Amino acid sequence: MTILVTGGAGYIGSHTVLSLLELNKDVVVLDNLSNSSEESLRRVKQLTGKEVIFYEGDIQDDTCLKHIFDCHKISSVIHFAGLKAVGESTHNPLEYYKNNVSGTLTLLDEMRRANVHQLIFSSSATVYGANSPVPYVETTPIGSTTSPYGTSKMFIEHILQDFAKAEPQFSTIALRYFNPVGAHESGLIGEDPNGIPNNLLPYIAQVAIGKLEKLGVFGGDYPTRDGTGVRDYIHVMDLAEGHCIAMDKLRILRGFRAYNLGSGVGYSVLEMIQAFEKASGVTIPYQILPRRDGDLPAFWADAGLAKMELGWEVSRGINTMMRDTWNWQNKNPKGYHHHHDR
Ligand code: NAD
Ligand code: WQD
Repeated sequence: MTILVTGGAGYIGSHTVLSLLELNKDVVVLDNLSNSSEESLRRVKQLTGKEVIFYEGDIQDDTCLKHIFDCHKISSVIHFAGLKAVGESTHNPLEYYKNNVSGTLTLLDEMRRANVHQLIFSSSATVYGANSPVPYVETTPIGSTTSPYGTSKMFIEHILQDFAKAEPQFSTIALRYFNPVGAHESGLIGEDPNGIPNNLLPYIAQVAIGKLEKLGVFGGDYPTRDGTGVRDYIHVMDLAEGHCIAMDKLRILRGFRAYNLGSGVGYSVLEMIQAFEKASGVTIPYQILPRRDGDLPAFWADAGLAKMELGWEVSRGINTMMRDTWNWQNKNPKGYHHHHDR
């Protein structure tokens, strides 16, 4: 039986495909390469010595999905495909609702037609919105999202709940990721953002190699221990392994379930800078700037439910996150880009 991974060429997807292949699962990837490169999958093959079947296509294309479900014995789907830039989503909400919400509807429809009943969905801590108490716990209702991106994830969770109620055979897990960072320890695959990075760690890493001049720290006056924003960072390989474990749970679950995937611990921006400097030996120049629109002061996960029901918890700490981010950035100063023509 084969697992369909949408968005499998992307950052979290490629690391998850690697973990699945290491468990001897058969994997088909569907990705439109809008935010990734097929080079990630070539490297996954290189690392595992195993094949991945790749389709370049869009989850909004029902014909393409039909073709995949016709040609492969798909038992379950891990659904990463979607757009994820929070700022961009406020300027182009329709693209976000189309790719994320509409794309997921098309996928669900084709899964139903093809009698595929198991789905893992990439949700986000952002669904807890602006008013949830920290640490975030799964029993808190989702809502009050602060961007169209976040709202698209919230809508999809509601759709999945309704669909699971209507289709008793269907089982679906929404994994609410906190802040994914790091890279596979080989340094062969990692996060390769387009243009100037939006997220903290890729930005720091590009300052470290001299590609960017200095880090802007968004806000120094939050009510946190040092005034900078606090987040729950999680190593992408812990996240990848979380998907593999959730796959086992899917087989015995009926209906919809959501799990936080986080460490349960928060770090401030300044603590992240220090930890990166320690791991890399490189000083990161920074400057405190005004707060970024839509940012929350501090949040982290209550990681108890995933531990209790899935038997999953993080095993890689902040030093490993920094070591692996630095290793990837150092080995791939241009990301996956131009790899073949240099
Ligand atoms: P990514 O951009 O690296 O991966 C997403 C992949 O989906 C890309 O390869 C992209 O080309 C592909 N894609 C986008 N739209 C598509 C479409 N319509 N059809 C087919 N493929 C499409 O991002 P990531 O960080 O790996 O995130 C994976 C998932 O996890 C996303 O759904 C994202 O919203 C979610 N998530 C990410 C984070 C994070 O901080 N990285 C946090 C929480 C949730
Ligand atoms: C982390 C901290 C910033 C960049 C976003 C999405 C969230 C999820 C993960 C998908 C914050 C500060 C950042 C910089 C900075 N994605 N920062 N200078 O905003 O917590 O979460 O990505 O679901 O939905 O909102 O992540 O890495 O952008 O920021 O000071 O140049 O670093 O203010 O405190 P964020 P981030």
